[in-house]
Amino acid sequence: MLRFDDRVAIVTGAGHGLGRSHALLLAERGAKVVVNDLGGALDGTGASAGPAAEVVELITKNGGQAVASTDDVATPEGARAIVRSAIDAFGRLDIVVNNAGILRDKSFGKMTVEDFDAVIAVHVRGSYLVSQAAYPYMKEAGYGRVVNTSSPAGLFGNFGQANYSTAKMGLVGLTKTIAVEGARNGIRANAIAPIAWTRMTEALLPAEFEQKFTPERVSALVAYLVHDSCEVSGEVFSVGGGRVARVFVAEGPGWKTDDLTPEALAMNWESVMAEQPYVLTASDSMKAML
Ligand code: NAI
Repeated sequence: MLRFDDRVAIVTGAGHGLGRSHALLLAERGAKVVVNDLGGALDGTGASAGPAAEVVELITKNGGQAVASTDDVATPEGARAIVRSAIDAFGRLDIVVNNAGILRDKSFGKMTVEDFDAVIAVHVRGSYLVSQAAYPYMKEAGYGRVVNTSSPAGLFGNFGQANYSTAKMGLVGLTKTIAVEGARNGIRANAIAPIAWTRMTEALLPAEFEQKFTPERVSALVAYLVHDSCEVSGEVFSVGGGRVARVFVAEGPGWKTDDLTPEALAMNWESVMAEQPYVLTASDSMKAML
């Protein structure tokens, strides 16, 4: 059994849905958990200490160890306070699961700057701020595990979610760069693109999804990715309903000429669009251009 004894984890947005399920699973397997949740509405308005406190109570009742944090991931002070909760309560920090999220769906033409910025702030800035506040502790320990929460909407696009999909694809870039920079200090970072029945999706998913797409079926992957034994880093995984799949950004073989003109492109568009054989890294992409 993969256990987390002596490991300390932060799970943001852990008062409901996926984050709650991640926190419960990690705590059940021995991790000491900072249960962070601002406790607001789905659109990020309001705040309440209730959700984080309830999850801490449940963990404690089950014999685990947890502390609540109601700090806002989207502010530098909030992110620092979340990390300080881990250090003050448990003396170390090994795992960060950036899960907090809000929704402000609008069709692209109607999207407001406020709705765009609010969503980017919680998902992207929040994940950046909490990971960065945790980073010195992980570097010092020569060990760290980070999971960021992307979305199929970000990877593939979705109607009404220009703000959310921008944020969720942004998290892929953040994840890959933390993986590159953290590698020599034993820090591994991955992203998940989940589907689960939560308050965020219950109005959008068909009713029959409730039984199959449980948060627990996402948390199993999160737990594996943040375990000592998992050296995977810089990857993105689609996860839901019991299925897990690697998602990768790939570059096709391309088409090249020394005389690149718009007309030459029009003539050779099929080759430009070819998918096989593909490359997966920036250095292989550069090599293919030479
Ligand atoms: P949820 O609404 O149940 O949970 C999100 C939690 O984040 C809430 O408890 C909320 O209070 C908290 N939160 C929001 N803003 C915060 C802030 N500034 N600071 C601290 N906490 C904050 O939704 P769900 O579905 O559990 O979402 C979890 C993550 O998974 C989100 O990042 C979401 O975008 C992502 N996701 C969920 C999918 C699904 O199918 N449920 C699909 C794709 C991505």
